[in-house]
Amino acid sequence: MTDPAHDAETLRERALTTLTTARARTTLLTSCVEDPDLTAQHSPLMSPLVWDLAHIGNQEEQWLLRTVAGREAIRPEIDGIYDAFEHPRAERPSLPLLPPTEARHYASEVRGRVLDLLESTAFHGTRLTEAGFAFGMIAQHEQQHDETMLITHQLRKGPQALTAPDPEPAPLLTGPSEVLVPGGPFTMGTSTEPWALDNERPAHVREVPAFFIDTTPVTNAAYQAFIEDGGYDDERWWTAEGWAHIRQHSIHAPLFWRRDGKQWLRRRFGVTEVVPPDEPVLHVCWYEADAYARWAGRRLPTEAEWEKAARHDPAGDRSMRYPWGDADPAPEHANLGQRHLRPAPAGSYPEGESPLGVRQLIGDVWEWTASDFLPYPGFQAFPYKEYSEVFFGPEHKVLRGGSFAVDAVACRGTFRNWDYPIRRQIFSGFRTARSVGDA
Ligand code: AVJ
Ligand code: FE
Repeated sequence: MTDPAHDAETLRERALTTLTTARARTTLLTSCVEDPDLTAQHSPLMSPLVWDLAHIGNQEEQWLLRTVAGREAIRPEIDGIYDAFEHPRAERPSLPLLPPTEARHYASEVRGRVLDLLESTAFHGTRLTEAGFAFGMIAQHEQQHDETMLITHQLRKGPQALTAPDPEPAPLLTGPSEVLVPGGPFTMGTSTEPWALDNERPAHVREVPAFFIDTTPVTNAAYQAFIEDGGYDDERWWTAEGWAHIRQHSIHAPLFWRRDGKQWLRRRFGVTEVVPPDEPVLHVCWYEADAYARWAGRRLPTEAEWEKAARHDPAGDRSMRYPWGDADPAPEHANLGQRHLRPAPAGSYPEGESPLGVRQLIGDVWEWTASDFLPYPGFQAFPYKEYSEVFFGPEHKVLRGGSFAVDAVACRGTFRNWDYPIRRQIFSGFRTARSVGDA
C-alpha cells in the first residue's frame, strides 16, 4: 500500500492506541457503578454490564490469541456463555457469568497477551493479519460494546453515575436548511479502507439521481412541532406496521421524554432536564423518523443518498473517507467518543461539513435511512457470517454516521449499522430528504 497512513508501523501504532482507548472506556463504564449494578439486568433489551465485559475479552481471545496466534483457550468452558447467538440478551442474567472481579481479571489477562502479540505479528500474510485487520476489528468490537454499555447506563434507573469529560458540545450555528446533491454516479463502499468491515465492501458504483438533503439532523424543536400537531394521533403519517406498533405500545414521544405541563422533560444518564430545542432528536425508532418525514412532506434518505451526501466530492469527482476529506476524525470535525454524552446543537461542527455544506453526518446521532440492511454486490462474509450476513434482510433498517457514543475507530463514511425499526433505546435520530421535483 502506498498511502503512508496505511503503512504497517502506522497501523500497528493505531491498533495499540485504539485498543488502549477502548479499554479505558470499558473500564470506566464498568467501574462507575457498584458490582450489583454490573450483574443486574437494567432492561430485557440489554445484557448485564458484566456480560459485555467478559464478552469483549472472549472475542479478543478467540480472534487474536486463538485464531491469529493459534493458542489454546484460557477458559474453554466459558465460550458458550459469551456467544451472543447461543443466548439472547434477556437470558444472559441467568447464566453462570464470571463475577465482576473474575471478568475484569480475564479481560486484562487476554489484553496482556494481545499486546505482546501485537508487537510480534507481521501485518501481512493472511487476510486476518493484513494491515492488522484483526486488531482493528477487535478494537472496533470493544468500542461497539462500549456504546452498547452506554445504552445500558442510559436505561438504568437511579442517580447519575457518569459525567462527560467535556459537558459542552459545540455551539449552534445556522445556515441553509437543505442542499441539492447533484445526480450521477458515485462510489459507494470501500475496497481500500484497511479496517472496514465486511458489509462495507466492496467499493461499487451507484447511480443516484439528484436529491435535496437536510444540512443538519432534525432537531427536538422540529420534532416537538410534529407532536404538537397531533402527529402521533394521525394515521396518515404512519406505515401500517408503524401505526400498529405505536398504538399497541402507547408511544407518544421519543423514549425518555415526559410532558410536564407545557414543556417536555427528558431523562439523560440519571438527570432530568428540559428537552433542549436545538439538539438533534434522539431515541426515536425508524417508524417515528419515517412518520415525521412524511408529516414534513419529505422522506428519509436512502442509504446510497446518505453516503453520497457524506462522501462524494463533486470537485474531485471521487468518494472521500469522511465528509471533510480523508483525515481521521479530530475533535473539531465531529462529536464522537463519549466526550460530551449528548448530541451537539444542530449546525455545529462547521469544520466537519461536506463540500456541499451538509453538517453532522458523522457523530452526534445515528441516522435512520430508508434502506433495508442488504449486502453490496460482490459481498463476501469475513471473517465470520455472524457479524453481518445473518442480519441481512428487510427486517433490519440501516443507520449511518455514528453517534456521540461511538469512537472514531468504529465510525467511517462507509460504516453501516443496523437495527429493527422498533428500536429506540439506541442513540438514534435522523435527517430528511426529498426528490428533485417534490415540493
Ligand atoms: C453492528 C452494532 C449492530 O451490537 O449488535 C457487537 C455490533 N457485533 N458484537 C451489535 C456487534 C458483535 C452490532 N451492531
Ligand atoms: Fe459482540
